[in-house]
Amino acid sequence: MKLMVIGSGGREHAIIKSLRKSAGVDEIYCLPGNGGIAQDATCVDIGATDIDNVVKFAVEEKIDYAVVAPDDPLVLGAVDALNAQGIPCFGPTANAAIIEGSKVFSKNLMKKYGIPTAKYEVFDEPAKALEYVEEAPLPTVIKADGLALGKGVIIAEDRDAARQAIREIMENKKFGDSGNQIVIEEFLEGPEVSVLSFTDGKTVKPMVSSMDHKRAKDNDEGLNTGGMGTVAPNPYYTDAIASQCMEQIFIPTIEAMNDEGRTFKGCLYFGLMITKDGPKVIEYNCRFGDPETQVVLPLLEGDLLKIMQACTNETLENVDVKFADKHACCVIAASDGYPESYEKGFELTIPEEIEDNVYVAGAKAEDGKLLTNGGRVLGCTAIADSLQEAIDKAYEMVEKVEFENKFYRTDIGKRALKA
Ligand code: AMP
Ligand code: GLY
Repeated sequence: MKLMVIGSGGREHAIIKSLRKSAGVDEIYCLPGNGGIAQDATCVDIGATDIDNVVKFAVEEKIDYAVVAPDDPLVLGAVDALNAQGIPCFGPTANAAIIEGSKVFSKNLMKKYGIPTAKYEVFDEPAKALEYVEEAPLPTVIKADGLALGKGVIIAEDRDAARQAIREIMENKKFGDSGNQIVIEEFLEGPEVSVLSFTDGKTVKPMVSSMDHKRAKDNDEGLNTGGMGTVAPNPYYTDAIASQCMEQIFIPTIEAMNDEGRTFKGCLYFGLMITKDGPKVIEYNCRFGDPETQVVLPLLEGDLLKIMQACTNETLENVDVKFADKHACCVIAASDGYPESYEKGFELTIPEEIEDNVYVAGAKAEDGKLLTNGGRVLGCTAIADSLQEAIDKAYEMVEKVEFENKFYRTDIGKRALKA
């Protein structure tokens, strides 16, 4: 089979490494991919959101199955466009991807179907929102409705910060049309858990739970990033919480989407907070998380392609989704200064003995060398019988990777160890 994976980050590299182990795979193309992914797939210089050319390529190359990994092409309808040409895909159609594409949609969905989440109000005029935050309990959480590269959530500790966030999003259009509407919601407290799940719209099979580390610096200081490291499983996600989530959140969400005529097929990501009143949904993503995927898929026992096709064909009920009873830790090596300004273009060396465990996010190949080409450069994932061992091994690997302005957090997994 000829496969095509859309996207260019560490997540896509992890998906590709896992698909390479699947039965019947002859060739994998990655659009656009990156210099590191090029070790494991044929990269083609077509952007993930250039849907016309993605479809043209897939038709010309007679692609048998496509995986659309990032949020923006999903929300823009890449799966719909590929399906229209008879190409089966892993990923939701645009009318279901809205669960991530619009926070107003997802909050209203949860309210309508009684799915636990933070209390909220929706605003489409800055004046009303500004009036509301004069009285709202602090801290207050302000969210742009649409996609905002993971930066559309502001936790305002005081009224000034809240006013400023509203003005930036709604008046200065910091995130463009994504800020035409905003959600202002209650601040929740508790440990966060990411649960990625496979679903065919009828059955939902959760993957092993994980914990992201979103802030740039140790001790959860510094700015929010795409994620600086992950561990799996997440120790806060006990069996009791898992059953509660299945009953109160996962199945109700799949059913709600069906009732709305927006059947979701693909990977549905539940961003959860385990509050003192039970688990609540912080956010839905319509795709695999990054860097959660880099700890979840290495623990998958079984054939990823077979599971993905079962999601497409609505036969997930008949397929086993099992994970190794082990621990995984992924540490991200970033360019110093990320997520603000940083230099790139430094030579990157990844020793051969760790290549299988490295997921490249930002690198390009030039004259036979790899050069850094992004904020997050790569992630190193280790698997071991204990969390401590997985953490130690992941750090050993990240120390072996070389580039000039390498930066990484030194406390990935520390909070999980304390749990
Ligand atoms: P998101 O970009 O939606 O993943 O949100 C970024 C981060 O903001 C989340 O991972 C949480 O840590 C935090 N966050 C979002 N909503 C809330 C909330 N209602 N209460 C507390 N923290 C939140
Ligand atoms: N790691 C969080 C996300 O992928 O959105």
